[in-house]
Amino acid sequence: MSKRYAGITGTGHYVPEYVLTNQELETIVDTNDEWIRTRTGIRERRILKDKDKATSFMATRAAEEVLERTGTDPKEIDVIIVATVTPDYMFPATACLVQKNIGATRAYAFDMLAACSGFLFALTTGSNMIESGRAQKVLVIGADKMSSIVDYTDRNTCILFGDGAGAVLLEAFEEETGVIDYVHYTDGDDQCLLYQPAGGSKRPASHETVDLHLHSLRQDGRPVFKKATEGMADVSAEIMQRNNLTGEDVDWLVPHQANLRIISATANRMGLDPSKVMINIDKYGNTTAATIPLCLYEWSDRLSKGDKLVLTAFGGGLTWGATYVKWSV
Ligand code: ACO
Repeated sequence: MSKRYAGITGTGHYVPEYVLTNQELETIVDTNDEWIRTRTGIRERRILKDKDKATSFMATRAAEEVLERTGTDPKEIDVIIVATVTPDYMFPATACLVQKNIGATRAYAFDMLAACSGFLFALTTGSNMIESGRAQKVLVIGADKMSSIVDYTDRNTCILFGDGAGAVLLEAFEEETGVIDYVHYTDGDDQCLLYQPAGGSKRPASHETVDLHLHSLRQDGRPVFKKATEGMADVSAEIMQRNNLTGEDVDWLVPHQANLRIISATANRMGLDPSKVMINIDKYGNTTAATIPLCLYEWSDRLSKGDKLVLTAFGGGLTWGATYVKWSV
């Protein structure tokens, strides 16, 4: 069999209607708009207010949109991967709920947990399935309802996160296009710099874990900032070097949206003009696994076949990576 490639043939998204502004946060915790904007670049974020709706709802809407935009029958989908740290349930996987909702009756489905690197790692998994010849069409979704694990009494973290979902369809190609190369890393030594202490098998829910707010995300911001800045810049430089790319060659940087200062440092290191960097952190904050596919959706009208994209992320685990994509459509 000749070599196959996995190309991105469409994108979809969902963001909730409710806009939580910096001004509203000023009424909830001791913070201010100027601090948030200058330290992070965030002006507002979207929140899924409806208590009956969860991550699967947003992931389903994003999946429906990519199917519609590509004219794909859900029965053609072979695999669904949902990257998330906020699944509807501990199990079954959120991907199983999406599989039912969209009627992808032939697909098998599972979740992937790699925090903010989740979408990148899921994209790699999906593209490997296509390259192996075992799958023709794979839906890769990044979706997080971060408001469900944010402690709105903690000003260090509650200003950072928002809710949203993005999806891409991967399809098989014979020409060299799509996911060309990737570099991924993990450093479990620093697992507690960014984590949710309770709710798993180590500390199941109890009165004590609830009273101590242990079901919310905890982050030691300063060391994570330092590691994220180094990690995203280094891995982006590494993927460029492996593929003989200069800053001139790269058409778009698609960075995880955690902090505008981290994004700028990465672009500088790559020698990229700021006009080539996808940035929507001001509108959505950090939507964890959804940031990169949300950017791809928002910029999809400006992308042309053959454009060279570097996708890069850093998150809890610690996990980080970069992926080189040639746009396929
Ligand atoms: N409003 C006002 N003041 C605040 C706020 C706030 N919301 N939050 C903290 N401060 C104060 C602190 O208390 C501190 O005051 P002090 O000096 O009197 O102690 C001061 O501001 C500076 O705090 P720092 O934490 O040092 O601020 P920093 O410049 O590092 O910015 C931030 C904090 C934005 C969280 C930054 O550290 C960051 O972006 N970290 C990395 C985030 C990231 O990339 N995470 C990985 C991906 S997320 C995932 O995987 C789920």
